Amino acid sequence: MRLEIAGVSHSYGDLRTLDSLSLAGEAHGVLGLVGPSGCGKSTLLELICGLQDPGAGTISIGGASDGEGRLGRCAFMPQSDLLLPWYSAIDNAALALRNRGMGRRQARGTAAGLFERFGLAGFEASRPDELSGGMRQRVAFLRTLIAGKPVLALDEPFAALDAITRAEMQEWLAAALRTDPRTVVLVTHDVEEALYLCDRVAVLSARPARIVAELAAPHPRAPERDAAVTAPEFVAAREEAMRALRDGSR
Ligand SMILES: Nc1ncnc2c1ncn2[C@@H]1O[C@H](COP(=O)(O)OP(=O)(O)O)[C@@H](O)[C@H]1O
Ligand SMILES: [Mg+2]
Repeated sequence: MRLEIAGVSHSYGDLRTLDSLSLAGEAHGVLGLVGPSGCGKSTLLELICGLQDPGAGTISIGGASDGEGRLGRCAFMPQSDLLLPWYSAIDNAALALRNRGMGRRQARGTAAGLFERFGLAGFEASRPDELSGGMRQRVAFLRTLIAGKPVLALDEPFAALDAITRAEMQEWLAAALRTDPRTVVLVTHDVEEALYLCDRVAVLSARPARIVAELAAPHPRAPERDAAVTAPEFVAAREEAMRALRDGSR
């Protein structure tokens, strides 16, 4: 589903967060948002998902521009993984289905069918504190994906992971999206992550956020991550994004 953001501004009282942003995300494309900490990225995701209303401008998803319509089309993965500590991995993953009124047995069965593909087979009964950081993120992502919504809004999904796990998770997400394409909005403060995973990347300025650059990624979700991120055109795009980020942070 196509995402359209037109002239969106937002404030929390006197604190101006977003300044007349316009952006579009293609259906089945991955749109990246990078920007300095505190510029309003999480706020923008909440607006997209219909969890807040913009003060000005419109956001529409597949033609629906009311908050309720957007909420029904988006699955939101918040910045912290928010797994329930007393629930097993499978019950955490099944939560999105239980919330929609599906019975426990059926919800668990549906989730169980995905554990293998998510590299989680054998960990169904484990509690979050028994899983590695990467595995917790996969459970949280499985829960986001299983809801069956056409749009995924992911807020810094790998920020808490170490560099190696993060690179592995990026490859894993790239593969997951090749198999099961969705319209994705990905927030990250990591320019390389954005350019590897996204088709297009918008660089936001410091608050109130405006768009300082929009870049097309040279090799989105390439199967060979290491080769993709060291290619000269990728390095050039990364430098351009970094420059925009620096200029916009001043
Ligand atoms: N509910 C809220 N009420 C008031 N201010 C908020 C609220 N949520 C976030 N903020 C402030 O709005 C700004 C943007 O926050 P946020 O969208 O979380 O930025 P980012 O995700 O880019 O780090 C920050 O200065 C933050 O402190
Ligand atoms: Mg944030």
